[in-house]
Amino acid sequence: MATKSLTPKQFQEYLLTWQRQHGRHDLPWQQNPSPYRVLVSEVMLQQTQVVTVIPYFERWMASFPTIEALANATEDEVMSHWQGLGYYSRARNLRKAAIYIHETWADEFPSDVKTLQEIPGVGRYTAGAIASFAFNTYGPIVDGNVKRLFCRYFGIEGVPGTSAVDKQLWSTAEAYTPTIHNRQYAQGLLDMGATLCKPKSPDCDACSFTTTCIAYQTNRVSELPTPKPKKVIPTKPGHFLWIESNGKLLLEKRADDGIWGALWCLPQIYIEPEQLGDHVKLQGSFKHTFSHYKLDGKVWFINKLGIENAQQQWIPFNNLNDLGLPKPIRTFIEKHLK
Ligand code: ADE
Repeated sequence: MATKSLTPKQFQEYLLTWQRQHGRHDLPWQQNPSPYRVLVSEVMLQQTQVVTVIPYFERWMASFPTIEALANATEDEVMSHWQGLGYYSRARNLRKAAIYIHETWADEFPSDVKTLQEIPGVGRYTAGAIASFAFNTYGPIVDGNVKRLFCRYFGIEGVPGTSAVDKQLWSTAEAYTPTIHNRQYAQGLLDMGATLCKPKSPDCDACSFTTTCIAYQTNRVSELPTPKPKKVIPTKPGHFLWIESNGKLLLEKRADDGIWGALWCLPQIYIEPEQLGDHVKLQGSFKHTFSHYKLDGKVWFINKLGIENAQQQWIPFNNLNDLGLPKPIRTFIEKHLK
């Protein structure tokens, strides 16, 4: 007999029971889940694991406790709190979101998923998370955890992230999201995806959904979700300059767009280093993988140049911690500072 999925009402009951018994209840953003705290935590959690996010979240909330505090912060203050988390457009967008909410709504968040998506950087997932966690109201959520869980439980084939599959996942999420107990339901989905229905070695033995899980019943747990075809990402060279003088290092604030936007960095050059003259010597190299390419970084020591543009500043070695620097650049600098 073909496996039949639970109805939304049954699924909600099972999930809420599981969440009460096995879900997470002491994450920092679950305490006083104001819309602002939920927004910040969800944006941090988008590409980053819970354990990594926790200290960043705590530091962020200590420095920017309210929408107003964030709206009034400088870009440098904001970026310095994000350094090391990666995907820095998230931090710039959070600041823009705060400015928007402060100016447009006088710090009051709307509670419906449609209006929430007017906030810069807030898409369908984050809107659903704010509605669910902060307002405890209807807010469908589909993130990587939910995609994996739904693809397995409902036996959804095809690569998540492609539009036909995502459409199916979202309409399933809409149909299965309750109108009460939304906070616990949403947390249950995420926790179940993260702790039981894991990408590798899911813990099916401990799962209360196996009798109606299509992947489990048809022996396809390891095949679903359908894996993305592996893409080969290119390697690109990047040349940076090490220019120091009297305990200071010349750094350059990068443009808002492009990699490491709005972060402070060793000045990058877009010519071959030999063209700088024969006084350059290789200080060291580093590698870094972005989502779409690998950077093969080389840093060239040079003692001739001074400040060349308005984005550059001499930063005393002791003040490097006050600025937001990309992690591989900070690591490189710390290794090479004498
Ligand atoms: N991943 C995304 N949002 C989360 C949340 N609120 N709790 C735990 N993991 C998450």
